[in-house]
Amino acid sequence: MTKPVLYITRRLPAAVEARANRDYQVRQNPEDVPVTPADILRNAEGADAIICCPAEKLDAATIAALPASVKAIATYSVGFDHVDVAAAKARNIPVGNTPEVLSVATAEIALLLILVAARRAGEGERVVRAGKWTGWAPTQLIGTHVAGKKLGIFGLGRIGRELMKLVRGFDMEIHYRDQQKLPDTLAQGAIFHDNDDSFLAASEVLSLHAPGGEGTRKWLNAERIAKLPKGAVVVNTSRGTSIDDTALIAALKSGHVAAAGLDVYDGEPKLNPGYLGLENVVLLPHLGSANAVTRDAMGTRALDNIDAALAGKPMPFPAG
Ligand code: DGY
Repeated sequence: MTKPVLYITRRLPAAVEARANRDYQVRQNPEDVPVTPADILRNAEGADAIICCPAEKLDAATIAALPASVKAIATYSVGFDHVDVAAAKARNIPVGNTPEVLSVATAEIALLLILVAARRAGEGERVVRAGKWTGWAPTQLIGTHVAGKKLGIFGLGRIGRELMKLVRGFDMEIHYRDQQKLPDTLAQGAIFHDNDDSFLAASEVLSLHAPGGEGTRKWLNAERIAKLPKGAVVVNTSRGTSIDDTALIAALKSGHVAAAGLDVYDGEPKLNPGYLGLENVVLLPHLGSANAVTRDAMGTRALDNIDAALAGKPMPFPAG
């Protein structure tokens, strides 16, 4: 029996590719270069299924132009704001994602950004590397004390809750903003806010964990930033689209926001050049899920989704 054709837009971890090659005729991107919607449409010709990645936009027009052969799409990510799931549904193409397996990894990067930004570790590292360190001094690189601060989590989903667990040792009071109050088995004593104003006023450290998309586009704008306590630290490991970059850059310059840590950007891999000259922002290249265990587990989820859909079963991890 001939194996179904699976188009995988980027290189995946070796174990994931081995499983894919065992079960499918895999159409790959051996050079592992970024792909455009036109590349996706060309490579999808005759393919039964696609595994795509968060950097690729499968908007309504691209989905509408997919060949009739395509019966399933699995994104190798938990976020699926880059795929027009409704357009796929209209064509009876199920879309799956990779929830849960990257929650801890992403929360680790959020914690890392909180600490590096608050304690000015990026600046410190640059000073040492540049050979400009003149020795310990009482007033040098004074940062923000993290322990005991109020942490505001915007979106207390799986990743936000993992961050909450990780910061327990920092004795932080945890506040959260979400569409609704979570049962205490999940919220674990975190303080719910049903409005942005009181949530922002409490957020001495603000970490964004809500999904991307139109609902959160530029949520952290100038008006909301003004409601943060002076000297707040802002961290984003969710989607870059949630921040109005011009407003955050202005607040970093004025000192209203003492420091920021960003792993994601609106329009990445491009980012607002205003960030590049600022010492008080830490910039990572979308590392949230980037560890070997997590990336293997994401591959397992993606292939489980494709296997199920091509067997005529519901995807175990449907997007949405
Ligand atoms: C996701 O899965 O949505 C992340 O942004 C990629 O790690």
